[in-house]
Amino acid sequence: MEIKGSVAIITGGGNGIGEAVAKRLASDGAKVVLADMNEDGLKRVQSEIKSAGGEAITVQVNVTKEDDTAKMIKTAIDAYGKLNIMVPCAGIIKDGMLLTLDKETGKVAKKMTLAQWQAVLDVNLTGTFLSVRDAAEAMVNTGSQGVIFTISSVNKVGQIGQLNYSSTKVSDALFPKILIGEFNKRKIKNIRVVGIAPGYVGTPMVKGMDQKYLNEVVLPDVHLGRLIEPEEIADLITYICKNEAINATTIEITGGLCHTGGIAK
Ligand SMILES: NC(=O)c1ccc[n+]([C@@H]2O[C@H](COP(=O)([O-])OP(=O)(O)OC[C@H]3O[C@@H](n4cnc5c(N)ncnc54)[C@H](O)[C@@H]3O)[C@@H](O)[C@H]2O)c1
Repeated sequence: MEIKGSVAIITGGGNGIGEAVAKRLASDGAKVVLADMNEDGLKRVQSEIKSAGGEAITVQVNVTKEDDTAKMIKTAIDAYGKLNIMVPCAGIIKDGMLLTLDKETGKVAKKMTLAQWQAVLDVNLTGTFLSVRDAAEAMVNTGSQGVIFTISSVNKVGQIGQLNYSSTKVSDALFPKILIGEFNKRKIKNIRVVGIAPGYVGTPMVKGMDQKYLNEVVLPDVHLGRLIEPEEIADLITYICKNEAINATTIEITGGLCHTGGIAK
């Protein structure tokens, strides 16, 4: 698929991986629709894309709200009449162990709260579902050649301290196989679905993690010996857009991460 002239929506486009993906697609000639909750991030990324000669419009959305994802798709179709690429990068972490015991009594002092569980499910799973569903609808109804991504994580294997996050990321990794199976049965041949499962990427999300843990426990297990750059994820996404043989799978990009530990203390 040609990126030049295509139309791409990137949720979480106001920061981190979404920002890098949006900038790369725009520099390759795509018309980019930046969608994020954070208006300042949207304005900054849009202005940087435009200064570099690219095309971008913005829409402020909360991807957990059905009306907002509908508005996001409508913004793209009203402006450009088609949709070719959907990259739902909006995501959050709220790490913590299920139970934390009081050191003296051995009784439970703290537990993962329902709010901590639900917030991560709402953004990472329901937000992905709504973005993907509405993008697929628009691609079918406009007859657009399209690629829909899901953003999983290497922590889909089940990371200690991330029961909430890992639960969403294992689900995000299942979308491509299930959806392409369904599209095949429905004879929908114009849409591919591909998952990306990054390791630890140098974005604000990871900078918010326990840095001592990151440097002393995570990075020594990364064969590459450093965090992945968001631009390296963007590079993979543009390659997948162009190569139509890649479909119905979730691809890890981790720098060779082998897990040994957990995240939360
Ligand atoms: N950074 C990593 O190491 C890493 C690794 C694997 C997977 N991922 C995944 O990649 C995606 C992007 O992560 P990142 O590191 O770029 O994060 P980030 O925190 O840098 O950026 C996330 C963006 O999503 C936006 N956002 C959050 N909730 C939203 C909502 N409800 N509606 C709309 N926008 C919302 C934020 O405003 C922000 O701009 C996430 O799904 C994350 O789980 C990240």
